[in-house]
Amino acid sequence: MRPTRSVDYRTLAHLRLPPAVSDFIDGGSGDEITLHENTAALRRLRLRPNVLSGTGVPDTSTTVLGTPLATPIAVAPVAYHTLAHPDGETATVRAAGDAGALTVISTFSGQSMEEAARAATGPLWFQLYRFRDRDVTRTLVRRARRAGYAALVLTVDTPVLGRRHRDLRNSFALPPDVRPGNFDADHHTGLRHASPGHSAIARHTTEALEPALGWADVAWLRRITDLPIVLKGVLAPADARRAASEGIDAVIVSNHGGRQLDTTAATIDLLPDVAEAAGGHCEVLFDGGVRDGTDALKALALGARAVMIGRPALWALAAGGGEAVHHLLTLLTEELSDAMALCGRPTLADLDATLLAPATPVCRHTTTARREAP
Ligand SMILES: Cc1cc2nc3c(=O)[nH]c(=O)nc-3n(C[C@H](O)[C@H](O)[C@H](O)COP(=O)(O)O)c2cc1C
Repeated sequence: MRPTRSVDYRTLAHLRLPPAVSDFIDGGSGDEITLHENTAALRRLRLRPNVLSGTGVPDTSTTVLGTPLATPIAVAPVAYHTLAHPDGETATVRAAGDAGALTVISTFSGQSMEEAARAATGPLWFQLYRFRDRDVTRTLVRRARRAGYAALVLTVDTPVLGRRHRDLRNSFALPPDVRPGNFDADHHTGLRHASPGHSAIARHTTEALEPALGWADVAWLRRITDLPIVLKGVLAPADARRAASEGIDAVIVSNHGGRQLDTTAATIDLLPDVAEAAGGHCEVLFDGGVRDGTDALKALALGARAVMIGRPALWALAAGGGEAVHHLLTLLTEELSDAMALCGRPTLADLDATLLAPATPVCRHTTTARREAP
């Protein structure tokens, strides 16, 4: 099957991956209400296109923190690309760079940030966690700068890990051929073993990451680096205003793909207020449930400068390595371009909230609401 839409890659990935790995990638926390709501809320929004605009071929190029990009669709930081494919992050960054897309490499990448940087053909950001031991985070910051990463993305929604029942049921642990590429494997042997009913990832996170993460950590990061800082996981307007006043360069409206606090609202429903609060003082990016070009269009119209995809990138990587990731990003960009043409908006700067139909009706045809795979 040649995929014609991003979710086709999920079907192909499921054929290749062990069920516990598919569960780790696809799953969310709690009853997975937020996981499903992210996609459902995007699908509920209805568009109101303009016609006779003489648009021609739309221009999907943009800049994010001053970096020119051919597409506003970026790869979100997702841990362990090597779970999906042995080529891991190096394949992803090459594919994304060739598609003109930004990639954010996770602290818990399956290959080291230096290996990923050497393979890169496009811009890279590095995602950071604040470890209990600040020196671990400080070392990652220095390495990222030395390796040429253009910005640091501090994930702020993970003082503890969400309860991910699929991983608990599967007693999920890293397979023997997957390792945390940025760390000495000896220090992370706990990631390979989970006692029944527990997740090795959850235990490791609890032990390693700082549970009292606060604005003081953001100020500390600002002091130790001159790289642009992006906060990932900002959902409340007050937090966006604080980020802007702390000199933060960008915020990402994200609920971690429904993997942290379950019943958190869909990111698309929270985006407009955050964008307004950021008020042009810092850039706003978005993730959560983006599966096609119209999803991206809606987030861009509601104030995002770029949108990121998490699971679809891993599905494509699992299905067909870097080539499939390149195809996925090209496909999503073409879908976005088509949607812009059909809406009569020639550039991303022309996208605004007037594209959304007023009083968008709730979709009663639940069969058309896309649900993440159970
Ligand atoms: C398997 C997996 C691993 C992830 N690992 C990280 C991570 O290491 N750091 C992080 O900030 N976010 C992580 N995320 C969250 C993503 O960056 C992103 O917020 C989310 O996947 C977006 O939703 P989507 O999957 O619906 O596109 C992960 C998500 C998944 C699915």
